[in-house]
Amino acid sequence: MKLVLLGAPGAGKGTQAKKLIEKFGIPQISTGDLLRAAVAAGTELGKEAKTYMDKGELVPDSVVLGMVQERIKQDDCKEGYILDGFPRNTVQAEALDKMLAELGMSLDAALSVEVPTEDLMKRLTGRRTCAGCNQMYNIHFQAPAEEGKCDKCSGELFQRDDDKEETITKRLEVYQEQTAPLIDYYREKGILKSVTGTGDIDEIFQNVLQTLGVG
Ligand code: AP5
Ligand code: MG
Ligand code: ZN
Repeated sequence: MKLVLLGAPGAGKGTQAKKLIEKFGIPQISTGDLLRAAVAAGTELGKEAKTYMDKGELVPDSVVLGMVQERIKQDDCKEGYILDGFPRNTVQAEALDKMLAELGMSLDAALSVEVPTEDLMKRLTGRRTCAGCNQMYNIHFQAPAEEGKCDKCSGELFQRDDDKEETITKRLEVYQEQTAPLIDYYREKGILKSVTGTGDIDEIFQNVLQTLGVG
C-alpha cells in the first residue's frame, strides 16, 4: 500500500499512521519527523529547516524533496509506505508523481483526514510526544497514566517547539493556502478518499481501513 495522508496540522495523521504501521508493517515517512531529527542532530540541513519550522512556514521544497527521494528508495519501502505531511503543496505533489514514475511506482490512495478547524488548536497545544518512541499523547484527550511519562517505554514526554499558539495559527493558515488545494489535486487523479477524523481514535482507524478497502 502506497498512501499519502492529507490533513490539517493536528488532524491525526501521525496518530493514524502509527496504527497503520502496526497493522501492515510498512514504514511511515513523515517529513516533519525527518526534519525534527535533523534539527535534533544539529546538521546544516536541520539548522536551515528550523528557521522555517519555528515560524510555522514550509521548509523549501528542494530540502524536503531530497529527503523524501532518499528515503523512498530504501529497501523497506518496496512493499509500500505512508507519506505523512508530504506532499505539502502542488510543486511537491508534482515532483512526487515524477519521482514515483521514475521508480516504477504509483500511489494507491490519498486519504484526507477531516477535522473541523476549531478542534485543532486544543489538540495541538495539548499534544505531548515521547522522546523515546515518538508515541503521541494529549493532556486533554489522551493523557498518559503518569504525567510526563510514556505508557509504552517510560520515556520523557516533550512539547513540540512549533506547538505554540501563534505558530499553530500560522501553520493552519499555511495549510489552507498551500496544502488544502491538494485535496482537489488528488480528486482529479481519482485516488482521493476521505475520513472523518473526530471521535474515538480506534473507531477512526476502523473507518480508515474500511475507506481504504483493507478492513
Ligand atoms: P509536521 O510534523 O508534518 O506537522 P503538521 O502537518 O503540522 O501536523 P502535526 O504533526 O502537527 O499533526 P498530525 O496530523 O500528525 O496530528 P497528531 O497525530 O500528532 O510539520 C511540521 C513542520 O515541518 C511544518 O510546519 C513545516 O515547517 C515542516 N514540514 C514538514 N513537512 C514538510 C513538507 N513536506 N514541506 C515543507 N515543510 C515541511 O495529533 C495531534 C494531537 O491530537 C495529538 O496530541 C493526538 O494525541 C491528538 N489526537 C489525535 N487523534 C485524536 C482524536 N481522534 N481525538 C482527540 N485527540 C486526538
Ligand atoms: Mg504529525
Ligand atoms: Zn515512549
